[in-house]
Amino acid sequence: MPLVLNSLDIELFRQKIFDFYLLHRRNFPWRETTSRYAVMVSEIMLQQTQTDRVVGKFMAWMERFPDTATLASASLREVLALWSGLGYNSRGQRLQTCAKVIMDRFGGVVPSSPEKLKTLPGIGEYTCRSIPVFADNLDVAAVDTNIRRIIIHEFTLPEDSGKSRIQFAAEQLLPKGESREWHNALMDYGALNLTSRRTGIRPLTKQSKFQGSKRWYRGKLLKELVGSPHIDLEELEEKYGECPWGLQEIIDGLVREGLVDETESPCRVGRKTLRIREDQR
Ligand code: ADE
Repeated sequence: MPLVLNSLDIELFRQKIFDFYLLHRRNFPWRETTSRYAVMVSEIMLQQTQTDRVVGKFMAWMERFPDTATLASASLREVLALWSGLGYNSRGQRLQTCAKVIMDRFGGVVPSSPEKLKTLPGIGEYTCRSIPVFADNLDVAAVDTNIRRIIIHEFTLPEDSGKSRIQFAAEQLLPKGESREWHNALMDYGALNLTSRRTGIRPLTKQSKFQGSKRWYRGKLLKELVGSPHIDLEELEEKYGECPWGLQEIIDGLVREGLVDETESPCRVGRKTLRIREDQR
């Protein structure tokens, strides 16, 4: 059953969120731009990484890769070096792939429609809406885990409510013409006031314990490889031999995803060496 909200509840809720925003608004560098490219970078960085960790990385990224063309033509090594510290390295690589696709298919201009944005790698239901919301003030509802939590809590919905039910509620709550500020206000309300801890509402995807996880080993290996032109497999085995999944499995994953090349060592016969993939367009 779709949840139809009555207009008084909608009005009171909007008032409460904007009142909170007036007093507690946070400032972020990505809130000072309406460049669709810059917003895309920030939104991809903000997927699963906390705002305070993103601020410096975002500034450095924009300095080095100020537009789609610069990012598209950079080496993967440099992309990963600048991504380092944000976690989930494949997201950095995917952001560069986005830039390449945007150069090839959209003349270097980040598209403005959610439908076109959704065709890009790493851009899903939330991000294809959040980019035009923050860059163009487009009247669509973008529902991330914070906004989902707010709606479930404020309208006492069951925690297992389906995505389309929440999306339908979010669309009714959106004040037309104020989409950008509305979403900023909701994000601040969710992060500062209605936290997951306070409401007991868990995010849909719970992150596993990080240290020692597969992802942790992936990050370690990539960091090593970004720091040198190539590294012998044996050297890595010595250092990370305790990896419970076997180092080779982690490496195979990185090779499959096109982040790393595994080749015969140029100096030592029969040995393997690893390097960040260099091939460009
Ligand atoms: N998380 C995702 N997008 C955000 C934004 N624009 N501001 C704060 N947190 C966010």
